[in-house]
Amino acid sequence: MNQRSNFTSKIGFVLAAAGSAVGLGNLWRFPYLAAQYGGGTFLLVYLILAVTFGFALMVAEIAIGRKTGLSAIGAYKALDKRFGFVGILTALVPAIILPYYSVIGGWVMKYFFTFLTVDIKVVADDAFFGNFIGGSPLEPLGWFFLFIALTSIIVLLGVEKGIEKVSKFMMPFLAILTVGIAIFVITRPGALDGVVYYIKPNFKDFSFTTILAAMGQLFYSMSLAMGIMITYGSYMKKDNNLESSVRQIEIFDTAIAFLAGLMIVPAAYMFFDGSTEGLKKGPTLMFVILPKVFGEMGSTVGTIIGVAFFLLVFFAAITSSISLMETVVSIVMDKTKLGRKAACAAVTVFSLLMGIPSSLGFNVWSHIAPLGQDLLTFFDFISNSVIMPIVAFFTCVLVGFIIKPKTIVDEVKETDGKFKSEKLFVIMIKWIAPIFILGILGFSVAEGMGWINV
Ligand code: PHE
Repeated sequence: MNQRSNFTSKIGFVLAAAGSAVGLGNLWRFPYLAAQYGGGTFLLVYLILAVTFGFALMVAEIAIGRKTGLSAIGAYKALDKRFGFVGILTALVPAIILPYYSVIGGWVMKYFFTFLTVDIKVVADDAFFGNFIGGSPLEPLGWFFLFIALTSIIVLLGVEKGIEKVSKFMMPFLAILTVGIAIFVITRPGALDGVVYYIKPNFKDFSFTTILAAMGQLFYSMSLAMGIMITYGSYMKKDNNLESSVRQIEIFDTAIAFLAGLMIVPAAYMFFDGSTEGLKKGPTLMFVILPKVFGEMGSTVGTIIGVAFFLLVFFAAITSSISLMETVVSIVMDKTKLGRKAACAAVTVFSLLMGIPSSLGFNVWSHIAPLGQDLLTFFDFISNSVIMPIVAFFTCVLVGFIIKPKTIVDEVKETDGKFKSEKLFVIMIKWIAPIFILGILGFSVAEGMGWINV
């Protein structure tokens, strides 16, 4: 076993984990889900889940990592042989996410270059996104290949530390720009209805799928149930306060998601006059709405903001895709005899092949719609709404009944003997979270199959 390096500063851990957490999940995924699932209803469900569920799971995962000093595959097995399969399941998640994440990364690059080179009126036009994605299949494929290639070159050269440094410097700008754009949007005439839609819960929009979608989003956005936080935990020092680190990561991640929603959902509401069809644009929402918002800023300001915004989003996306690829590469290296280069090449080829259907699903394969979803949404659904809840369920069972919550509580207390939310943690991880996850999965399947109608 080689010695694991540790994070040198306390804030270093929080920043690194927050860096993994903040990505396209906050900027691209959260707003479209909120728009689709009833705005305020989704927001409320998400917030409740974040402070209860998200908190308990993140504490458990980081503590498992710190205690065992292993990454997910080894950690589950080390805690209990029978739970080795959970480690394998967690390993599947980044392998499914990386390809379609890179398809979206490609779209982000396309938008950056278009804002840079073409008049903003062209991008703000209604037909622009549709023509890009539904025109020649080669164009979106080309951008996707480019994004994957960049990710893989960075991972191969081992220069991700450099990229991450740049990105940490860029992140605050992204946050500031998001606040600025959100203010611009909510001060538009007529935006108020959209803001109300985004913030005020409306229980007629409520369904079990809303909770499932919010739960999947929580896992995705906070990098839970995919082994990432276990790995981060394995690098964390004992004198680093686990509980307060988790709170800080959560607050940061949720704040960015909330602001991204405030920037996109009211604008979408306004542009589509509150029509459900417009609000259900799904993965394409950000790309359809933001150019219109920037277009309203006038051509010079709009172009500058557009270029800056998509450049910053590109950084947020590439750091996430690097850490996804790193994770998959190290699993392949652990499980096979391949060296780093060969493993990286294998993962790149796999991701290229797996990503092609997601890209073509908006194009020549749009007739293939498993569960009524386009292919990208389908892969996203399988990883976030099926595999991740299952992983989270078994993690709760493992912690709640096999190794017992006390093991985790003791690990949290290593730093200063305190665990403020100990009671909340124990009751969540042992009872509420696992029962809730099973219930929601069950109801959602029943709803999807049309057995019940809520
Ligand atoms: N949490 C990231 C996001 O919100 C996604 C991600 C998952 C990044 C896993 C890295 C690893 O976009």
